[in-house]
Amino acid sequence: MASNTRYETEPLSLANKIAIVTGASRGIGAGIALELARHGAKIVITYTSPGSSKGVDELIAQINDLDNGASAIGIQADLRQTSAAQAIVDATLARFGPQVDILVNNAGVELVKPLQDITTSDFSYVYDLNVRAPLLLTQAVLPHLRAPGRIINISSVGARAGFKNLSVYCSSKAALEGLTRCWAAELGAQGHTVNCVSPGPVQTELMDNIPKETIEMQKTTTPVQNRIGTVDDITQIVSWMASEGSRWVTGQVLSASGGWAINAFTSEHMEQEELGQVAGLTTSSVDTVQVISKLATIDGMERRERGQQQESNGEKGYRQREQNSNKKIANKTNSSTVYGLV
Ligand SMILES: NC(=O)c1ccc[n+]([C@@H]2O[C@H](COP(=O)([O-])OP(=O)(O)OC[C@H]3O[C@@H](n4cnc5c(N)ncnc54)[C@H](OP(=O)(O)O)[C@@H]3O)[C@@H](O)[C@H]2O)c1
Repeated sequence: MASNTRYETEPLSLANKIAIVTGASRGIGAGIALELARHGAKIVITYTSPGSSKGVDELIAQINDLDNGASAIGIQADLRQTSAAQAIVDATLARFGPQVDILVNNAGVELVKPLQDITTSDFSYVYDLNVRAPLLLTQAVLPHLRAPGRIINISSVGARAGFKNLSVYCSSKAALEGLTRCWAAELGAQGHTVNCVSPGPVQTELMDNIPKETIEMQKTTTPVQNRIGTVDDITQIVSWMASEGSRWVTGQVLSASGGWAINAFTSEHMEQEELGQVAGLTTSSVDTVQVISKLATIDGMERRERGQQQESNGEKGYRQREQNSNKKIANKTNSSTVYGLV
């Protein structure tokens, strides 16, 4: 039997709930499926690649081994196909009965490409999966959603940041967050909630394509332990979102990023070279990661005092620099990261 020690003394908060988790063959989705099952839910695991069938079978076995009333089925369906949503719901109802309680729209794909190279196929490749599929699947689930239903969309901190060469991905997640707010307004009267969980970088296969310096920057500017997230960091939040305890939260985006989204660096919009000066580094020797590393060791108030001191010494206005520097960072930095385009 699989180890379930953490849950042996906890009540099964999702007992008899039916949950569909898309893209649950691996990565964050597999973690979410297992976590919801640990709380007693019956899980529909969706995936698309034939090569993932073995992993899905193993996950189903792991869930069945929990021996807590949870069970699972796997459904292979390409969510870029418009027929996939109804096929998933039909298979869910056939296996688990007439109702669905939880839908986690997790399956997603990223694309790293400069603006000038983006094609209409690239756009469809990302948007058909990251935006249209959640729309079609939520529509297909809706007639069967038992109140209080939970729709949980997996976004990304990229939805509210600006990263070079990730515009199609980041904008698709921004679209998902827009859908989330509107669906929350539409479905609230029936007792359903609709929310986003928005991870920062998490070590999965999807992250393999993200530029290394972007990840390094995010690690350095993550307040909690200067690290990237784990799958478990995300699944804990999703399982709470799926539970009764989240009933008064809807239309929200919960940033699951160790605080990266509130990082002072992203909000101050200061130019790299000026930041270097504030950090006490010589302009000629700084690069973005160095500056961030250095600044991370300096208290925010002290940074502000240093800036104000420079201003009182007759240098260009500190506030003005904050306002003007965003564009300059984009032009001057060699890093693929552009800060603060929130
Ligand atoms: N990892 C991160 O750093 C990070 C950060 C922020 C947000 N996110 C978001 O978190 C979600 C999960 O990411 P992840 O890192 O766990 O991704 P991942 O490891 O690449 O897994 C992607 C999952 O989506 C499925 N999938 C891919 N294309 C599909 C399609 N056409 N139809 C149906 N399913 C499809 C895959 O199934 P197969 O195994 O069959 O291919 C797999 O189960 C995504 O929405 C992503 O944008 C991730």
